[in-house]
Amino acid sequence: MTAIVDVDNLTKTYDGGLTALSGVSLRIEQGEIIALLGPNGAGKTTLISALCGITSPSSGRATVGGHDIVTGYRKARAMIGLVPQEVALEPFERVINTVNFSRGLFGRRRDDALTEKILRQLSLWDKRRARIRELSGGMKRRVLIAKALVHEPRVLFLDEPTAGVDVELRRDMWRVVEGLRADGVTIILTTHYIEEAEAIADRIAVIDKGRILLVEEKTALMTRLGRKTLRIDLREPVEAVPASLADYDLELAPDGRSLSYHYDTRGDGTGITRLLQALAAAGLGLRDIQTTQSSLEEIFVGMIREGAA
Ligand SMILES: Nc1ncnc2c1ncn2[C@@H]1O[C@H](COP(=O)(O)OP(=O)(O)OP(=O)(O)O)[C@@H](O)[C@H]1O
Ligand SMILES: [Mg+2]
Repeated sequence: MTAIVDVDNLTKTYDGGLTALSGVSLRIEQGEIIALLGPNGAGKTTLISALCGITSPSSGRATVGGHDIVTGYRKARAMIGLVPQEVALEPFERVINTVNFSRGLFGRRRDDALTEKILRQLSLWDKRRARIRELSGGMKRRVLIAKALVHEPRVLFLDEPTAGVDVELRRDMWRVVEGLRADGVTIILTTHYIEEAEAIADRIAVIDKGRILLVEEKTALMTRLGRKTLRIDLREPVEAVPASLADYDLELAPDGRSLSYHYDTRGDGTGITRLLQALAAAGLGLRDIQTTQSSLEEIFVGMIREGAA
């Protein structure tokens, strides 16, 4: 199957000479929800802007729905809904007109029932007659989402849609995303909230300094997240891990005074009970034990540091 978004070796160097994307390749299947994670300045917005035709790539190519983003710009763009990172709305326009106008921009006939459904989903229906400037910051973000959805895009880019918004909007947005997923809409989301990526993404891509460092199924990443380490300090140092404990893949500290055991908290059993019994059977006395867990956040920070090295 061809990918609905296919990015091949895309590079973007801005006029000042800054390279914001270097050789980005990424294939996204139809109906997938992918979260782009990365620090400020990583290139997330640049990638989205390139795919939406807001900024032109310096080299490489990309297609959306099979349409080249440069040569087939209009067809590609017609499939795309974009919720931009920055709020850009006409302050004196009314909510409902703003949303209807967005649909018209794509040459779609006005659809009052659809506009109403979207405004209700985003809790904006009561505010439909309000002017944009009378809305709070979070409400403006909701309008941006409504605008992005009203022409029924097949591919939706959400560039930090929930930055600085309250828990309720975040939940509303997650619900909207679930509904879109059910309709087969492909969603590319950037976020600095790792729990948001956990809640809604199928795959996670990590980007830093214009390069994709990793693309992985969320569940696989979560398994890594579920990894914990049990450190066992021994009463007496040992030269080597006793042969009877070979099955546990224990790591012996260089000074021989502690053993580390890695286990998965999401598995059926951690194996800790058996391990402790086996340690006793091998005649090893314990001085202390402790556990540590690597968070998704730590995994990212570690990855980005390694990338920088
Ligand atoms: N129009 C522009 N002209 C020149 N440089 C730019 C422009 N837009 C972005 N950049 C630079 O490109 C790099 C990537 O920026 P980008 O906005 O893509 O990052 P981001 O990953 O979206 O960051 P954030 O998490 O802060 O939104 C940054 O170094 C930024 O300063
Ligand atoms: Mg950005």
